[in-house]
Amino acid sequence: MADRDPAIKGEPLPRCPGISFRDMALADTNPVPEFLYEDVYENLGSDPIPAARYTDPAFFELEKQKMWPRVWQFAAREEDFPEAGDYVVYENVGRSFLLVRQPDLSVRAFYNVCLHRGRKLKTEDGWTAELQCPFHGFTWNNDGSLKGMPCRWDFKHLSDEKMRLPEAQVGRWGGYVFIRESAEGPSLEEYLAPLPEHFKRWKHEECVTAVWVGKVVPANWKAVMEAFMESWHTVITHPQLLPFTGDCNSLYNIYGDNVNLTVTPFGVMSPHLDPEGRAQQWIVDEFVKYNGRSTDNYEPGEGDDAGGFNVRVPDGLTARAALGESLRAATTKAFGHDVSFASDSEMMDAILYDVFPNFSPWAGFQPNIVYRWRPWPDQDHALMEVRILTRVPPGEPMPKGVPMHFLTKEQKWTEAPELGVLGDVFEQDMENLPFVQEGLKASKTGEIQLANYQEIQLRQFQNTLMKYINS
Ligand code: FES
Ligand SMILES: [Fe+2]
Repeated sequence: MADRDPAIKGEPLPRCPGISFRDMALADTNPVPEFLYEDVYENLGSDPIPAARYTDPAFFELEKQKMWPRVWQFAAREEDFPEAGDYVVYENVGRSFLLVRQPDLSVRAFYNVCLHRGRKLKTEDGWTAELQCPFHGFTWNNDGSLKGMPCRWDFKHLSDEKMRLPEAQVGRWGGYVFIRESAEGPSLEEYLAPLPEHFKRWKHEECVTAVWVGKVVPANWKAVMEAFMESWHTVITHPQLLPFTGDCNSLYNIYGDNVNLTVTPFGVMSPHLDPEGRAQQWIVDEFVKYNGRSTDNYEPGEGDDAGGFNVRVPDGLTARAALGESLRAATTKAFGHDVSFASDSEMMDAILYDVFPNFSPWAGFQPNIVYRWRPWPDQDHALMEVRILTRVPPGEPMPKGVPMHFLTKEQKWTEAPELGVLGDVFEQDMENLPFVQEGLKASKTGEIQLANYQEIQLRQFQNTLMKYINS
């Protein structure tokens, strides 16, 4: 194995017995891009992780001071504020930023704070011709230069230059807008590598937010993110997915400090199930029932015409091949992009990238889920957001994105019907998370243990976090 996997540093780690994702991908109908099945990881060891990283307010303060200001944070999608004068408020760990679209359609990110007595300039997204503070009326142009102030005769000590709104760094890629407080550090492109190279195929700049739901979760932001960073909890937490999910066949790659990739195959039965007596048709039927990304959730669809449903598996064909064929046809029809070249993997698998610390886009040609994670507002709560991006047909204007449907701690994901059956899947995850947070505080050992391979990405991000904390 080592000689065909040169990207593995050190000894290869043991893997689930049975077919690898690589062998599955090589059997796909159309060629799968190599980077989706090539192993790229290094053995990061097996040390336990201190539970206090999730629960200790002092550690949370360290994250605030040493990590968050130095990383690129996913702050908005371009379609959230497409026109000159549109603005978005992005807040995290007590900081507030105002992303303002400029006349040349570039983006500036100001600290969303009046330089007079400190009122936040804006508290929700909108459009404006100027930035006027609602308290005494200090006013800035949309480019951050001072426009004026009432009773200027009383502020002789304030020059225009001194009164420019302070700014954060802005980086844009693939329809995503990022900010970073610190002027130091890698460019966004360097930080995201190799993700922009991989996504050249999937072109998220041609997509638009069709669904956006956020919910406050009573658990540390890392615990929430990590609950979506491995697929192997499917066996107990999401058993309804097992008939069509190769949960422990998944591939887990890590690239440097900031990026990782999980590929969890769909359209194949979990190695946890006994295949005895199960037809390929059963896999397809269960997929259609429970897969959360079926296009009928958010596209006008009429059964097998638009959604690729009622798929019959012809004799001699696998469920995966039949689903791939059907999804290629349905997606080409629904979104006007010809995806007949796309592999089965790119049409159905859970291809999830994570970028440290708060950005997790799904890839492939199905409607793409995009997660964002951040503390809300303390170490015991997180805001988890789920977007679903769909492709804008060629030649059509990019519509404005939908606003976020905000669910409180008390509301369930299933109260956002636009998520379809994904809401049920997330509710299953929510049944763990509050008790993870409580358990971490109640722990006798004060530490958690991780799987060497299937949780290698959790360890990668924990290591990255500690690099910031310790420097
Ligand atoms: S606090 Fe903003 S104008 Fe006074
Ligand atoms: Fe889950």
